[in-house]
Amino acid sequence: MRSLAEPYKIKMVEPIALLSPEERRERIMEAGYNTFLLRSRDVYIDILTDSGTNAMSDNQWAGLMLGDEAYAGSNNWLHLEATVQELFGFRYVVPTHQGRGAENLISKILIKPGMYVPGNMYFTTTRAHQEMAGGSFVDVIIDEAHDSKRDDIPFKGNVDLAKYEALIKRVGPEKIPYICVAVTVNLAGGQPVSMANLRDVYALSKRYGIRVIFDATRCVENAYFIKVREPEYGDASIAAIVKEMFSYADGCTMSGKKDGIVNMGGFLATNEEDTYRQATAMVVVYEGMPSYGGMNGRDMEAFARGLREAMSFPYIRHRVEQVGYLGQQLIDAGVPVVRPIGGHAVFVDAREFLPHVPQGEFPAQALAAAIYEHSGVRTMERGIISAGRDKEGKDYAPKLELVRCTIPRRVYTSSHLDYVAEAIIELHGERDRIGGLRWVYEPPVLRFFTGRFERL
Ligand code: F0G
Repeated sequence: MRSLAEPYKIKMVEPIALLSPEERRERIMEAGYNTFLLRSRDVYIDILTDSGTNAMSDNQWAGLMLGDEAYAGSNNWLHLEATVQELFGFRYVVPTHQGRGAENLISKILIKPGMYVPGNMYFTTTRAHQEMAGGSFVDVIIDEAHDSKRDDIPFKGNVDLAKYEALIKRVGPEKIPYICVAVTVNLAGGQPVSMANLRDVYALSKRYGIRVIFDATRCVENAYFIKVREPEYGDASIAAIVKEMFSYADGCTMSGKKDGIVNMGGFLATNEEDTYRQATAMVVVYEGMPSYGGMNGRDMEAFARGLREAMSFPYIRHRVEQVGYLGQQLIDAGVPVVRPIGGHAVFVDAREFLPHVPQGEFPAQALAAAIYEHSGVRTMERGIISAGRDKEGKDYAPKLELVRCTIPRRVYTSSHLDYVAEAIIELHGERDRIGGLRWVYEPPVLRFFTGRFERL
């Protein structure tokens, strides 16, 4: 096969620069060995996250000029609302400033203290909102999702139906306001959920009268995996797959900063009138009018256009295959990564990369810091620091101790990814000299964002 060149050309550039090794050593020390605390200008290639880091198209930029910044009833809101209704098939849409705004609304509306919220692996902000509403998250993803080496499973994000049903029987369906199904599963490595599993989860949930709420954040990437891995869908369009996926949900939250191909935005969607009424009442308190929810008119226009562009097969194929291109280089060089490679990121297995650093000395945090120091590439810890502490104050100790190399949409070319691969492969050859870290400052919630460390 010929190489899969970028399905876009570059019209505007943003210069980037590589600091000297001495400068990088100083900067990461000043940042408390936390890549979140680095200044963007000190970063050469930024693969911290794919969230809000997307490059917009000429069509989206043109849409910004049509921003209707009315306080109420903005034309761009009507466009966004109609686009979500059409593409996802939900009746009601409530705008929010980003995904966690929607998570806040749905958690406050549906979760009562003492309830349980099953999900296919936790996500940081999603679980934080569930817990703040008095609920307990219960992981019902298949066991294999926690094993970075199982590469024979095409849909590693699937819900384990037996685990889910056992929870229902144990606590009773009335204690489960909804199941949250993430498509794809970020912290499992960007792993997808199959259409067959979505269908089964929905059927089981309906038997017990439980709602199904999708975390739609990376749903287009999930649709691409369904198209290429689930035989019946080989000829289906991405839009048709997305539409069918969401027919197995009663509502969703979405961070537009990922598959919406914008820099900011989100929404809550539902088919239930009562949930919608409560959400519109609450959104004015936390986000803004139900016709903007924290977004500018122009942002909503770009979001509506971005969602439609995301349904393009050449776009999503390149996006997911570009991630695979980076992953394959690391695999070929013997760097331990989560397999199969997911939709938005390559996850390096820090436990295996640094077997001499115990989890209590934060191998993934230490490795992310070392990658920056070595190459100016900014990645992110997704291990014990991200997992946080439980209600008793005990560290959640996840099996997966990972460094995430997250690819922004339409931003970097293959040669940027070659540089990243070369840097990580080189560092792998010198891994013995990377040691662990200890806390200097630990924030009470979502500690990974602002925590500080020092070298042991
Ligand atoms: N759900 C998933 C699966 C996410 O990955 C994120 C954000 C959110 C919800 C929250 O959305 O940031 O718009 O409030 N993930 C980012 C990341 C932060 O880097 O993975 P948000």
